[in-house]
Amino acid sequence: MGMIKLPIESQNFFDRNYKEIFSSGHLAEGNWNKTLELWTEKYTGAKFSIACNSNGAGVLAILNLLREKYGKTKIFIQSNTMYGVKTTAITSGLDFVGTVDCSLDYLMPTLRQLQDFVKNLKETEKSVFLITHIGGWINPEIEEIARYCEKLGITLVEDCAHSLGSTLNNKHSGLFGFAGVYSLYATKAIPAGEGGLIVTNNENAYKELKKYSIYDRFEQELDLGVNIRMSEISALLSYSVCKEIKKIIENKYQIAQKYIACCEKFGWNFIHPARDGQRSNLYKFILKTNEAEPVEFFQKINSRTSPVYDYHLGNDPEEIAKRHICLPIWYDLEEEEIQKVLTELAL
Ligand SMILES: Cc1ncc(COP(=O)(O)O)c(C=O)c1O
Repeated sequence: MGMIKLPIESQNFFDRNYKEIFSSGHLAEGNWNKTLELWTEKYTGAKFSIACNSNGAGVLAILNLLREKYGKTKIFIQSNTMYGVKTTAITSGLDFVGTVDCSLDYLMPTLRQLQDFVKNLKETEKSVFLITHIGGWINPEIEEIARYCEKLGITLVEDCAHSLGSTLNNKHSGLFGFAGVYSLYATKAIPAGEGGLIVTNNENAYKELKKYSIYDRFEQELDLGVNIRMSEISALLSYSVCKEIKKIIENKYQIAQKYIACCEKFGWNFIHPARDGQRSNLYKFILKTNEAEPVEFFQKINSRTSPVYDYHLGNDPEEIAKRHICLPIWYDLEEEEIQKVLTELAL
């Protein structure tokens, strides 16, 4: 299997500009951070963005603020997400009160599953729901979930580690609740090695997060914060990759079209990347099954990457962990690999 690659345009742009970082002496807190943040705001439609060194750092900052400044005392997440989401939630110092079940449809919680969880939740107005958009899709019920949370005073924070460039009804993830954070980690949909992009439409949250990210060492008012900054070299690399996002995603759609045609022809059940208002960034291409023996059912597909998660953090009533597999899909995936997948799907 090949490696994740960056467009040549990204590499050339980085090449043309990195020396200027050295000659300017601005290795941190310089123009590339600003450029990246402005790009993020323009691209996603967010009012505010802050570049940081990982999704985890950005989420932790948001949760810390919610605990210290917004009176939040507890947090819950969804069962189908990365283990690190749980560790981040616990590390925030909020009381971890459990996980919401997820549905095999989109591997995420439905509004009904959230309501079932909330039935047993006391003091909803002191709670934070850290929701994860999985695999490149936005939770299809995010609007309803956001309204429900707002009604109960639950603060919604979006873990958008998988969803930079994804939209639902033309709206980007990260803007349905208090704040969201994308990841630019090496294996993500838009990879730049490491990095996170916080987005929010909440001016107060933005101002506080901005202070938090630099220990509030200038104004010295927040009494809260660490260094979650992105270096200028990282910001330049991130911008070099982000500015090619259209090309990256379109390239993956060309691969997906081949998979889709083959899946439709041979009757595979897959999550469509662009249906029902979704426009996935194609972080993952997912096959699913309701067969009694899913492991045997998928046996002949050797050309696969690891599942989104082969574990669950709470209950897994719909057996998501073993009822899906992922086909390889990333920028500039070799034709030979694509053909291998198509052959196996046709067997
Ligand atoms: C769902 C999810 N949330 C958060 C993260 C953390 O992102 P980062 O590595 O940028 O902190 C990841 C992956 O690394 C992830 O898959």
